[in-house]
Amino acid sequence: MCGIVGYIGPREATTVVINGLQRLEYRGYDSAGIAIYDPDLGLQLRRSVGKLSNLQQRLAAEPTRGQIGIGHTRWATHGGVTEFNAHPHRDDSGAIVVIQNGIVENYLSLKGRLLELGYQFESQTDTEVIAKLIGHYYRDSRDLVTAVRQTLSELRGGNAIVAFSIHEPDTLVAARLGNAGGVAIGLGEDEQFIASDIPAILDYTRTLIFLEDRDVAVVRRHSVTITRLDGAPVERPTHTIAWDPVAAAKGDYRHFMQKEIAEQPRALMDALRGRIDQERGRIELEDLRLSDDDLRRVRRIYATACGTAWHAALVAKFLIENLAGVRVEVDYASEFRYRGPILQSDGERDALLLAFTQSGETVDTLAAMEEARAQGAPSVAIVNAIGSQAARVADGGPLYLHAGPEIGVASTKAFTSMLVVAYLFALRLAQARGTLTPAQIREHIQALIELPGKAAQTIELATPICIELAERYHRAGNALFLGRQINYPIALEGALKLKEISYIHAEGYPAGEMKHGPIALIDENMPVICIAPRDHIYEKMISNVEQVRARHGQVIAIGHAGDTLLAEKANHMIGVPATLPLLQPVLNVIPLQIFAYHVAVLRGCDVDQPRNLAKSVTVE
Ligand code: F6R
Repeated sequence: MCGIVGYIGPREATTVVINGLQRLEYRGYDSAGIAIYDPDLGLQLRRSVGKLSNLQQRLAAEPTRGQIGIGHTRWATHGGVTEFNAHPHRDDSGAIVVIQNGIVENYLSLKGRLLELGYQFESQTDTEVIAKLIGHYYRDSRDLVTAVRQTLSELRGGNAIVAFSIHEPDTLVAARLGNAGGVAIGLGEDEQFIASDIPAILDYTRTLIFLEDRDVAVVRRHSVTITRLDGAPVERPTHTIAWDPVAAAKGDYRHFMQKEIAEQPRALMDALRGRIDQERGRIELEDLRLSDDDLRRVRRIYATACGTAWHAALVAKFLIENLAGVRVEVDYASEFRYRGPILQSDGERDALLLAFTQSGETVDTLAAMEEARAQGAPSVAIVNAIGSQAARVADGGPLYLHAGPEIGVASTKAFTSMLVVAYLFALRLAQARGTLTPAQIREHIQALIELPGKAAQTIELATPICIELAERYHRAGNALFLGRQINYPIALEGALKLKEISYIHAEGYPAGEMKHGPIALIDENMPVICIAPRDHIYEKMISNVEQVRARHGQVIAIGHAGDTLLAEKANHMIGVPATLPLLQPVLNVIPLQIFAYHVAVLRGCDVDQPRNLAKSVTVE
């Protein structure tokens, strides 16, 4: 959740660190802080509550200088949003500074021990406990990496940390414990970078090393040495990242979310690129790394994810069951591991876990993957962030979305790309299992190829109407989103988008369930967004629209462009191009994203950084 940056090299560390934090602010924006060291000026610590811009103002008045430094942007876990709770935290002597992403689960007992030893704390955070403990061990060993190792071996939970000591002014120590979030080390000539997320350092380098669980890295200007927590040396591969740093910039758009909605036609094209052989009418999902035999063996799939990605998993259930005839169970990743799931039955090794995650760092999703592994079930990750933990620990795939960096906290292009990659996966499974004829596969391929163009048309058609509707409904206190079957998850997603960025209470419901309770909420002030494409349950949806109208609810219908019956029944209609029913959710969700965006803008909300949220959720 929190963002971490470190730098050592010839440049002004403040500039590099602040630049990196700007790219990471979506990870948390409760407070921000930096520590920069210069031999003449000593250790300079600056921390501010609120957004990074507050820290930047502070730095304009009280600048820092030096060629080594660390910085942090915080999503509060332990302790409120105060300057004392902002990172970096210091040891007792003030010589050692630490930033952390994650949670120290046993911090209270460690703190109790340190208090007994006479240490004093200025914050309520678990990170200050790490700083004090490192300082404590440093007294004996006079060696930062040894002190970090000793400290980490006492922590429970998942943590990514960077530590610096003025006694070793040419060294940063970075470490990763568990699944609290990634640590990438960017290699430069004569300089090195550390970041929790690669957009932070892409301006400077594309050559990266990712730390694994229990890795400790000693990062110096001319060297990076990685060892295991017990001190054993280890080599980690270097990765070259092709992402263009410009892709992580807002350009002419007012918000990242707006840019990312607009990018969807391109993102969908990139998700398909190289994965379809149109001439032979085949799906070529080579990165899946599972053979036809492996795929034929699969009897059950557990699809798991959190939030928006969980909605993608719900859609995937329809895709896989319909196209490939394999049963799919969908779980919230946060529920999965604690419910004692039985992945394999009768000693058969026939289950597969399918994990959906944009960041690849969501701790619950990673834990679900671990649970699958413990039960001998391979996992396939459908993931956006290149080199992320989910991508690295998956047995099959990673099936990358190739959507490019998604910076807006509310997921948009990653969601539609997940649906397309799930579609490819379902078709690949169908191809191996022979559940579709070659002619049927060709029909799906054709629809996929036409999809990016239809997404572009959808944006064009929907934007003016959504702006008008947003003007009309942005003062609403509640909204209901209804859909059936494969469009029910889209109703959930529409409601999530609206509530998370506009703070309007919204609920997604299966349309047929409305009469079992939520109908009581409907009155003339209630916008009810009904997703009603012309599919096998169209008539049922029309009945639901009528039921809402009969209670004076305001129906905003999403349906096929040119559907005059639906337009007549609804108060407002947003038409989208028609595609195959199983692909229709990709287009149906786009107007919901655009509507939520404009409502949030009109309400003066912080669209890209909604309150209390963060982009990568690395705590449970
Ligand atoms: C909502 C949103 C979140 C994420 C969820 C999972 O717009 O973005 O609900 O979908 O936190 O994140 P990832 O996909 O990174 O695992």
